[in-house]
Amino acid sequence: MKVYFIGAGPGAADLITLRGANILGRVNMVLYAGSLVPTAMLKHCKADAELIDTAELDLEQQEACYRRAQEGDYDVARLHSGDPAIYGATAEQMRRLEALGIDYDIVPGVSSFSAAAASIKAELTKPEVSQSIILTRVSGRASAVPELESIARLAEHQATMCIFLSGPHLKKIVADLQLHYPKDTPVALVYRATWPEERSYQGTLGSVLEETKKSEWNLTTMMLVGKALGSDAQTESSLYSKDFTHIFRVVKKEKITT
Ligand SMILES: C[S@@+](CC[C@H](N)C(=O)[O-])C[C@H]1O[C@@H](n2cnc3c(N)ncnc32)[C@H](O)[C@@H]1O
Repeated sequence: MKVYFIGAGPGAADLITLRGANILGRVNMVLYAGSLVPTAMLKHCKADAELIDTAELDLEQQEACYRRAQEGDYDVARLHSGDPAIYGATAEQMRRLEALGIDYDIVPGVSSFSAAAASIKAELTKPEVSQSIILTRVSGRASAVPELESIARLAEHQATMCIFLSGPHLKKIVADLQLHYPKDTPVALVYRATWPEERSYQGTLGSVLEETKKSEWNLTTMMLVGKALGSDAQTESSLYSKDFTHIFRVVKKEKITT
């Protein structure tokens, strides 16, 4: 018996990995976070699989499901939105599985920050503009963020930032970002990337609060910020330059004719 933590991806049912979908197609029990994993994703499950929405369960109740599967000796899929390694609350489940002597594996998924970047057709890293991506959030009721990682401190780097779980705190986030990013820094808000109801806003740090209605971005919204998002960041990598060589490509010398 084994538990598979599977990244469901950002929402669209065809953005789960083949490995994840194959596991869903053969296990008897599937636990999924119903608030973030759309029911369309469940079409990958076996017709007679037991489907359990964890939105209604506390950790002890989830543990009881794992114990029941252990007694019945059948595999379980635990579907998490995006990639399970990011704000997935998977560590505490893994600890409990270890205590129960239950084996587990993790199948990665497409995170919502990648989906949001795809939605606005952006590259998050641009040469000489930003080569780092900060994935972060602000403190919420469920988990606090260490002070050293506050938005105000991270903003000092002016790197590309992807801010999760933060819709209700938009005003404070914008104020903290403005401590270090200029007002014309590009900002995007992407609500439910890859879901049928996806919508997005693109503007600047200086305009975002005036141009958006806060209540529309409260839930399941990814905030992207950074100079790399802008069309004026037009630097190019040397990687595909015709004069740049690497082990997989040598510069073709022009034929010298005499
Ligand atoms: C509990 S975290 C889970 C993150 C997930 N593990 C991931 O890798 O995307 C939930 C937050 O992720 C972001 N999120 C998840 N799915 C999203 C989507 N389809 N579009 C935009 N943001 C999303 C939102 O910021 C949401 O509040």
